[in-house]
Amino acid sequence: MGAEGILVTGGAGYIGSHVVRQLGASGERVVTLDNLSRGFRDAVTYGPLVVGDTSDRELVRRVLREHSIGIVMHFAALTVVSESVADPLKYYSNNTAGTGTVLECCLAEGVDRFVFSSSAAVYGVPNGGIADEDTPTAPINPYGSSKLMSEWMLRDVSAASGLRHVALRYFNVGGSDPGGRIGQSTPQATLLTKVAAEHVVGKRPDVPIFGTDYPTPDGTGVRDYIHVEDVAAAHLAALAYLRAGRPSVTLNCGYGRGHSVREVLAAVGRAAGRPLVTREEARRPGDPPTLIARADRIRETLGWVPRYEGLDQLVRDALRWEHRLQAERPPI
Ligand code: UFG
Repeated sequence: MGAEGILVTGGAGYIGSHVVRQLGASGERVVTLDNLSRGFRDAVTYGPLVVGDTSDRELVRRVLREHSIGIVMHFAALTVVSESVADPLKYYSNNTAGTGTVLECCLAEGVDRFVFSSSAAVYGVPNGGIADEDTPTAPINPYGSSKLMSEWMLRDVSAASGLRHVALRYFNVGGSDPGGRIGQSTPQATLLTKVAAEHVVGKRPDVPIFGTDYPTPDGTGVRDYIHVEDVAAAHLAALAYLRAGRPSVTLNCGYGRGHSVREVLAAVGRAAGRPLVTREEARRPGDPPTLIARADRIRETLGWVPRYEGLDQLVRDALRWEHRLQAERPPI
């Protein structure tokens, strides 16, 4: 079968599909496992798609074996914070127990390298709004807890076995493939950049601004927005790192720069060619005022250099994709 295969769980989802595309484009042999509960078949642009669940031990083991998988990149997870608050067991089962099962299968089949999708949600509301990798973890919702528990499992499994891992804690991921082939298709989106793009194409009458009285320069929430292509590139850098035999590490994946909700909406307005209609709302429960990465370690450790820093390209790519979605799947 040649070169070692890379299994991407959740490869039909938003971030996973961008990673599959970059892996495929760089000549890697990639296999996707996705249950299509949130993902899309046509988002998988390289390699076979196996439709199934990470909780299915027999299936996961068979895929690892039959495709000679050497490395697993594990994205398959539910990601909506409010849903995790309403139905925590769904998150612990799908995200935490799911990760446990995939790890168990890796050990059983001799897969000894693992890249894990973690989240800035593990930090909760960090002091000063800036988190480095040593900032105490204190998630404030089941989604964040489900990711942190997965990190702990990974840490302990790596300590007890020959497995090595890279865990990437994503900050606010946005945008889409600049080539326009794939993007974020999630229905009932809650993420700011996606909501704003949906407004521009006419799917929403306005964009809510959740909180205008935060202790931030313009009163709205500040986040570290990172282009999904740069997030995907960090995974390829993690792959090279693990192949070089380097030790397990947990890294923030952000730019280290914050933008407010109003700055994001202004950028979307620039890209759209007209200002957006906004609606000022109360704060959304559980939102920290500011959440920005200290992002030096990922650059030093992986040699990762972002290519899409700045809001303008991120929102342009998000908008291009939203226009395409709107043209292909017009509202009924
Ligand atoms: N916001 C609005 N209007 C919207 C949507 C969001 O004003 O319609 C604001 C939020 O209040 C926040 C900012 O825009 O200030 C970003 O909100 P998102 O929902 O886009 O992203 P979050 O920062 O809430 O979420 C991110 C990740 C999650 C992770 C969470 C934890 O996407 O996966 O951080 O901090 F769990």
